[in-house]
Amino acid sequence: AEHSMILTETQGPAGIIRLNRPAALNALCNTLTREMAEALRAFDADPAIAAIIVTGSEKAFAAGADIKEMQHLRHPDTYMADFIAESWEAVLTVRKPVIAAVAGFALGGGCELAMMCDMILAADTAKFGQPEINLGIIPGAGGSQRLTRAIGKSKAMEMVLTGRMMSAEEAERAGLVARVVPAAELLAEAVKVAEKIGALSAPAVAMAKEAVNAAFELPLREGVRLERRLFLGLFGTEGQQEGMAAFVEKRKPAFRG
Ligand code: HXC
Repeated sequence: AEHSMILTETQGPAGIIRLNRPAALNALCNTLTREMAEALRAFDADPAIAAIIVTGSEKAFAAGADIKEMQHLRHPDTYMADFIAESWEAVLTVRKPVIAAVAGFALGGGCELAMMCDMILAADTAKFGQPEINLGIIPGAGGSQRLTRAIGKSKAMEMVLTGRMMSAEEAERAGLVARVVPAAELLAEAVKVAEKIGALSAPAVAMAKEAVNAAFELPLREGVRLERRLFLGLFGTEGQQEGMAAFVEKRKPAFRG
């Protein structure tokens, strides 16, 4: 499909979606979010793709929802607007792992988009924030919930109440991001993660993602029960047979995906 505000490419098993609206620091307007949703669905359906990377530019992952698009909205138009429609949360319905590779600004809806992904890799230049309060609004795509679960109440409260940005280093310390890497190596590091995932058993990968994500939805007992059912269900799969045989035979496993 032709896209005007994103670029897509593949590198091995990685499907890469680059947000590409440089004049507005990748502000997430209706067109951009719709195109991103289309690309996410296409990569999710492509059997050659094992993991999806969402990234932006050196300067900005995304500086938030498009303020110029929102400025004149009034309720109930807000309620009917695209930014609460499914495009915004398309990343949540993807079954393959989605890696946010964040350099520069990840603000407002940009930070929320990164947090909807399965993990965040940050360049040392990354800056995370929920500055909505400075606009007289509050986060609207999960920021108050996901940030609080990721970094705890005090830090989340300070960021959401004051709009203070967090550096990559602080974000790693707080548990928001998996790792910080030099900016020049960000995409290559994300592709390495995708390659590692691509060499594993696909059902195990899909169930691992489902199990970890359930930790955000379910009470502990239910989550552990779900994990156990998924775990038991993997016995007898090609992946489990091959993985365990390879260990016992002291060789590398060859998963068929
Ligand atoms: C629309 C934006 C934008 C945004 C930047 N731009 N962020 N346009 N919506 N969120 C545009 C600017 O208007 C400007 O275009 C161009 O991008 C470059 O931005 P500058 O401000 O000139 O760059 P700089 O001085 O480097 O400052 C960078 C910045 C600042 C600190 C990131 O742009 C900024 O504060 N942006 C807004 C961040 C924000 O408040 N995000 C939350 C949005 S609310 P022109 O044409 O003027 O040169 C939100 C709610 C989510 O996300 C709800 C989800 C449903």
